[in-house]
Amino acid sequence: MTNSSLSKLSVDQLKLLDQNVVWHSFSQMQGYQPLIIERADGCWLYDIDGRKLLDGVSNMWCNVHGHNHPHINQALRDQIDNVAHITTLGLSHPNTIRLAQNLVEITPAGLNHVFFSSDGASAVEVALKMAFQHWCQQSNPQTSRRKFAALGNAYHGDTIGSVSVGGIEHFHQKFDPLLFECVRLPGPNIYRTELDPANATEFFAQRYREILKQHQNELAALIVEPIIQGAAGMIVHPPGLLHQLREITRELGILLIADEVAVGFGRTGQMFACEVEDVEPDIMCLGKGLTGGYLPMSATVASTEIWNSFLGDHGEAKTLFHGHTYSGNPLCAAAAIASLELFELEDTLNRLKPKIEYFQRRLNDLLDVKQVGDIRKFGFVAGVELVQDKTTHEPFDWTTHRGRNVCQRALENGVWLRPLGDVIVLMPPFCVDQAEIDLLIDTAKSAIEAEFEAET
Ligand SMILES: Cc1ncc(COP(=O)(O)O)c(C=O)c1O
Repeated sequence: MTNSSLSKLSVDQLKLLDQNVVWHSFSQMQGYQPLIIERADGCWLYDIDGRKLLDGVSNMWCNVHGHNHPHINQALRDQIDNVAHITTLGLSHPNTIRLAQNLVEITPAGLNHVFFSSDGASAVEVALKMAFQHWCQQSNPQTSRRKFAALGNAYHGDTIGSVSVGGIEHFHQKFDPLLFECVRLPGPNIYRTELDPANATEFFAQRYREILKQHQNELAALIVEPIIQGAAGMIVHPPGLLHQLREITRELGILLIADEVAVGFGRTGQMFACEVEDVEPDIMCLGKGLTGGYLPMSATVASTEIWNSFLGDHGEAKTLFHGHTYSGNPLCAAAAIASLELFELEDTLNRLKPKIEYFQRRLNDLLDVKQVGDIRKFGFVAGVELVQDKTTHEPFDWTTHRGRNVCQRALENGVWLRPLGDVIVLMPPFCVDQAEIDLLIDTAKSAIEAEFEAET
C-alpha cells in the first residue's frame, strides 16, 4: 500500500488491519474486536463508527484532567515549533529542567533528583538498578544486597526486571525461567481470609517484619504500590500498613521504593499516595498521569543519599549506566508541566473531594447485586469483584470471562470499561461530573445484572 492509499482507508479496512497488523497489549489477537477511537474530549471518546463512549477507566488509568484539554494542547503547540526532542544523554532542555524541579517540589521531602524514562516499567527498572548499585557503591560495599522484596500480587510493569518483582500469577508465571529471585511478602488482601479487618494492619506488619528481617542483609529494597495494588484488582491496603512498612524498612536499613505509577497525581485524593500516610520513600516511580495522560513519560525520583552514592571521578565508574533515547523529552515535559499547572489553575484536588464522596456513595448501590462480592474503593478508584457466591466468596471459573462480558455489555450502552479478570475497574478522569458518575455506575450495574439475568 502506498502512503496515499493508507491515508484513505475505509472504516472496514482500518478494522481489518487493526485485527491483523497491530499487536494489541494484553489481548488475544485471535477473534480480536477492534474499537478504534478517532478523537476524544473531556471524559468522552468518539469511535470511527460515530459512537460516543464515556471513558470509565481514564484511558488505562492515565488520563487526569480529561482528553483534549486546551491548556495542555496549547503547551504542546508552543513547544513543537521550538524543538520536538532533545535527549538527556549529555544534553538538556529548559522544559526538562523545569519539570524536574517541579517534581522535586511536589514529591515527599528528601526526593531531590529526577531520572526520566518513557514508561512506568522503565521507571521501575531504573529504581531497581539504582537501589542495587547504591549499595555496591558504599564506602563499605554491600554487594550481597542483590535481592528485592515485593508484595504478593504486585504489578510493576512488563519488562523482565519489573515482572521479577511482580507477583500476578496469571500474567507473570510464564516468564518464571527468565526472572530474578524475589522475596515475596503476602499480599494484604483480606477478602478471602478469616482476618478481622481491625487486626489486619498489625497482622501483615508483623509478617512483613519477620520476613524482611530474615533477608535483611541480602535485600537492596522493598518495592510497593502505595495504598492501592492496582492490577491485583484494586486491593486497598489496611490503613497504616504503608506507614509501618516505612518504619520497618528504615529500622532494618532496607530502601523503600514507592511505585506511584498508577496512583500518583491525585488518584487517591492526595497528589501522591505516600502522602495519605505521610510516608517519605527513598525512591518514587512516576508515570501514567505525569503528562496528564497525554504522552509517554515517566520518572524515578531519588533521595540525595542515593544520588550522592553515584558521585565520583569517571575512573571510579560510579555512573548510573542506564538511559533511554527519549528520556526527558521536551514535548512530554511541556505536557507534564501544563498538567501540573492545571492542578493549581483548576484547584483540581479540592474540586475532586466532593466528587470522590459522591462516587464512593454511589458505588454502594452495586452492593445489592447478587454477584458483587466486594467493592474496594479509595479516592477516585474502585474495583468491583464479581463472585459466584457472595457468602463463600467463590470466584467464577476465569475461562468464563465474566469481567470481560460485563465490560462488553457496558460498551454496548456507551461506557468503555476494561476489567482485571472478574474485577470491574471504575476510574474516571477527574473532569467527570455528577451526571457522568451516575451514568458510569448505573451502566456498570445494569451490565452486571444483564450478564447474570438468565442465571438468577
Ligand atoms: C503500579 C504500576 N507500576 C508500573 C506500571 C507499568 O507502567 P507502564 O505500563 O507505563 O509501563 C503500571 C501499569 O499499569 C502500574 O500499575
